[in-house]
Amino acid sequence: MAKTATKVKPKAAPAKNPVADALQTLLKDTYALYLLTHNYHWNVEGPRFVSLHTLFEQQYTEMFTAIDEIAERIRALDAYALPDQYGEILKVVSSLASPVVKVKNKDEAADQMIAHLITLHQRVVASAQAAKEIADDADDEESEDIAIARTQVHQKALWMLKSIIK
Ligand SMILES: [Fe+2]
Repeated sequence: MAKTATKVKPKAAPAKNPVADALQTLLKDTYALYLLTHNYHWNVEGPRFVSLHTLFEQQYTEMFTAIDEIAERIRALDAYALPDQYGEILKVVSSLASPVVKVKNKDEAADQMIAHLITLHQRVVASAQAAKEIADDADDEESEDIAIARTQVHQKALWMLKSIIK
């Protein structure tokens, strides 16, 4: 005799978690900065090519690992990581007019690249600090640790990038 098919219950949507939402913002902003840093690693030119190409590589490589860590923390909080926000990420990247082909002077173009990266690092620091506060309020120490670590990394990157164009 055939077994009666078990009824599949529809899955309830995960409950809203403000910490996951804050980490989602941090993830989006870090992703945007990752994409821009990688692009500038390829396209920077001029007398500072070697040092900037190398610095951008160190920064995007570090961020690539961090993106995964943030996304997996979001999953650990039972939320989805970037289920449909890639358009928002590209909007952030495209909002900065690329100096790659528009600026003829290569040294000036490199300065503009650094200025763009500074803008996005500042944005990521703000997202990380907001996530830290929200995680602290929720007594979510693991998420708070990630947010603090990300703040430190991006503040250090800001110091380095600002020092280059001083
Ligand atoms: Fe490369």
